[in-house]
Amino acid sequence: MSDRHGSGRAARPFLYVVVCAAGVAEDVGELIDAARERGWEAGVTATPVAMGGFFDVADVEARTGRPVRSAWRTPGDPRPFPAPDAVVVAPATFNTVNKWAAGLADTLAVATLCEATGLGVPVAVLPCVADALAAHPAYGESLDRLRGMGVRFGDPYTGEAGEGGGRPGFGWERALDLLERP
Ligand SMILES: Cc1cc2nc3c(=O)[nH]c(=O)nc-3n(C[C@H](O)[C@H](O)[C@H](O)COP(=O)(O)O)c2cc1C
Repeated sequence: MSDRHGSGRAARPFLYVVVCAAGVAEDVGELIDAARERGWEAGVTATPVAMGGFFDVADVEARTGRPVRSAWRTPGDPRPFPAPDAVVVAPATFNTVNKWAAGLADTLAVATLCEATGLGVPVAVLPCVADALAAHPAYGESLDRLRGMGVRFGDPYTGEAGEGGGRPGFGWERALDLLERP
């Protein structure tokens, strides 16, 4: 893979983790730890809304050993992450999935996703979208379009409380399983 993303090669395969502004994002540290246990080095890019309290940025930076990215770098600055070997979007919101499918790259997170399939790297997505939003016809069209680009999706997850009152487990490792699928 070319090094046009700069900052050299990582010692281990490099995983981009894109985090969107869903409530379940507070547990994204579980994904980073699981990825590291499976041999990945990880770097997180979050949406600007997700940066506003949806997860513990300092904790994620401690786990990855790298700054969390959200805004574009200044021209002339080195690219802070190596090129990706794979990309995970978890949690993926209704908003980001629809913008990604439409090619509306108005955040670094969506721009990263728009570019990922063009780079030829595997991309795995764990949506967290309420049924009421998922019923919007644009969402189904977005999923169809992204699947047609080779993007791999986990099963639907609404983020809503189950009958026992608590939110069901998100199953973060599903994203890594999707990447390992042939
Ligand atoms: C507490 C809270 C939880 C949210 N959870 C979700 C969610 O699970 N899924 C979703 O699509 N949007 C959720 N939203 C709405 C998104 O944050 C909102 O659409 C935002 O614009 C998404 O931005 P992003 O896609 O750039 O991260 C939630 C908002 C709040 C305040």
